[in-house]
Amino acid sequence: MASRGNFSISLAVAVAAVLTGPLHAQSITPQDAAALPSMRTTIPMEENPAIGYFELPTTDRVATLIDQIDKGMVDFGAEGPSGFLKGLLAALDVSVESQVLVFSKTSMQRQFIDAKTPRALFFGDDIVVAYIPEAPLIEIAVQDPRQGMVFYTLDQESRRLPLIERRSECAGCHISSASMSVPGALNRSVATREDGTAMPMIANSVVDHRTPAAERWGGHYVTGIAGGDHIGNRALANNSDATEMRPLGAPEQAVDLSGYISAKSEAAALLVLDHQVNMMNLITRIGWDARVGDDYVRQQKIPGGVRDTLIKSDAREFVDYLLFVDEAALPGKVSPSTFADEFAKRGPRDKKGRSLYDLDLSTRLMRYPCSYLIYSAAFDGLPAPAKEAVYARLWDVLAGKDRDRKYSRLSARDRKAIAEILKDTKPGLPAYFK
Ligand code: HEC
Repeated sequence: MASRGNFSISLAVAVAAVLTGPLHAQSITPQDAAALPSMRTTIPMEENPAIGYFELPTTDRVATLIDQIDKGMVDFGAEGPSGFLKGLLAALDVSVESQVLVFSKTSMQRQFIDAKTPRALFFGDDIVVAYIPEAPLIEIAVQDPRQGMVFYTLDQESRRLPLIERRSECAGCHISSASMSVPGALNRSVATREDGTAMPMIANSVVDHRTPAAERWGGHYVTGIAGGDHIGNRALANNSDATEMRPLGAPEQAVDLSGYISAKSEAAALLVLDHQVNMMNLITRIGWDARVGDDYVRQQKIPGGVRDTLIKSDAREFVDYLLFVDEAALPGKVSPSTFADEFAKRGPRDKKGRSLYDLDLSTRLMRYPCSYLIYSAAFDGLPAPAKEAVYARLWDVLAGKDRDRKYSRLSARDRKAIAEILKDTKPGLPAYFK
């Protein structure tokens, strides 16, 4: 994992670049400008009292579930070879169809992961559940409306009650440059041996929807895609440094499926997760920057423009990602999937029956390229200045006010459809969305 130090330097450079732009040059002194990056780096953000990541209570869905289990309102037990998994997914309303299989030893319980016993991830809009049959723990990462990803484990060895606990040690890896220095979801593609050993010197990327197909899905099984220009379903021979990866075969042949509840690792689900992980982290980051920045300008009695500049710079990156402006070409021909059908049912529809949950999967991921995470509790929970900055920037792009060439990817039809869907389905949308 890259250190937070590296991140701080790149942030300082980015912020300095924004601050020297013509818009903000008059109102902010060089000292103020220098203070801005330091406000995020003198104390790690999670320890900043304005955030209180480890101290303040959360209202995420797993915290609620623990409370309900304690009160006897929800109860599920261990059943068959997969133990608590089915009960947990049902209690959290996470679909079995969302399963993706990862066989790289790139996470905490690495000793239990290899090509025969991959890690199964299941996800919903605010949550990822990671399961390995013989491992002691099921790992859960859930997005709190204010605090970013919060981490929990379920003890698979307990045979009576589901014992779910919040864990602070997960932050050691899950707050990193790969998660923009906020507690986040992580998603990597790494060349992997059959025994699960990651070989990052051969192929290694932090993945989101901008990642070129040829770099995707190293260390992952992929089903529901024909042909394709990706490195999923392949492994290096054990004890070899050769760069040649050979096909592993479908999970039905390659995986010991006895402890699993599905043999799928659908390309459609992987593509959605690839998008989602970075979107979640962008939401957390802009919210934290707004809170830390606000606290800082008040304490230091410096112009609020310092905070607003940071939020505006976050909002530009946020909206580019929200609108899939730099989406990479799809890695192959994606088959229709039960995951895609279920996914399309998750969200609201406008008067014409359109939804941001409709997948395209022929030329791009989304039929209407605007992230469904705009409906998330984490988005709704953003401090008002952050939300306003995102909406203002979103409208600038949708209305064609920013003429940068990269936005020409969004056709007039796309822009109109997105604005109309949002108007019908997104409570609290500013009146200027016409
Ligand atoms: C040693 C570093 C490390 C630690 C400690 C760690 N993780 Fe992770 N975790 C990772 C990495 C790296 C990934 C991404 C792996 C990939 O995509 O190949 C990941 C992925 C995950 C995922 C799936 C994707 C996501 O980020 O949502 C979950 C869920 C998860 N971890 C939960 C946890 C929980 C809960 C803990 C603490 C009990 C924890 N992790 C501790 C490194 C770690």
